[in-house]
Amino acid sequence: WGVGGHYAVCKIAQSYFEKNTLVAVKKLLPAYANGELAAVCSWPDEIKRRPEWNWTYALHYADTPNYECNYEYSRDCRNGKCVTGAIFNYVSHLVFQFHYNLTEALLFVSHFMGDVHQPLHEGFKGDQGGNNVKLNWYNQETNLHRVCDDKIIESALKKYYNSSLSVMIHSLLNKLEYGWSNDVPSWESCPGHQTVCPNRYASESIDLACKYAYKDATTGTTLGDYYFLSRLYIVEKRIAQGGIRLAATLNRIFSSNSEAR
Ligand code: ADE
Ligand code: ZN
Ligand code: ZN
Repeated sequence: WGVGGHYAVCKIAQSYFEKNTLVAVKKLLPAYANGELAAVCSWPDEIKRRPEWNWTYALHYADTPNYECNYEYSRDCRNGKCVTGAIFNYVSHLVFQFHYNLTEALLFVSHFMGDVHQPLHEGFKGDQGGNNVKLNWYNQETNLHRVCDDKIIESALKKYYNSSLSVMIHSLLNKLEYGWSNDVPSWESCPGHQTVCPNRYASESIDLACKYAYKDATTGTTLGDYYFLSRLYIVEKRIAQGGIRLAATLNRIFSSNSEAR
């Protein structure tokens, strides 16, 4: 996601934090976040191209071999150097508290939980998750990855949300409460009471990438109303799921009640 998508994921998550989680997260947040996780959720994108942080670049995605619509940890996350491996790693830092910098671990978990839900962050290696699929979004030259990271959200803000991200976030919170409420418990849970299950989120993403993101979006095409209107629901649902799962994970980590794990 771009800045807006990550902000929305973390804002939704914070509204689902339990009391202990909110206290623990606020203790870890840098002062300039002003108690708001969403304010710092794009930090891993700001640093990933700096030489000293270059090793984090590959942690934002987990691409599959070309036209492979299934995700496999051992094949797509060599040595844990991918988004699912990073989520496992930084969650375990927060659980066992052995990381020298738990603030960093919190920001990485919060950011990567967003990215793993963007379908094209589990795209194909051959086109770098749609980055090399050059096409037009209405009359603008861009690429497929950017369409899914930003453009669909930007167009939705203009068309439906009075150009306001907070209006969009409120609408998603409303959909969570009244539309998706029956699905939320299944989104929150992980098999075998694991703290987090990023392999499940990645499998859903590559499935959605094949069925919706890549479909009818080849190099040189122009995407417009049809693509926008049919994919917006997927983008909104993935942002909402990312927020719910980030909250559920942090609630499991920081809940003082160990029964809840
Ligand atoms: N670079 C290579 N693959 C990528 C992906 N799926 N998302 C973002 N950047 C990438
Ligand atoms: Zn992206
Ligand atoms: Zn990212």
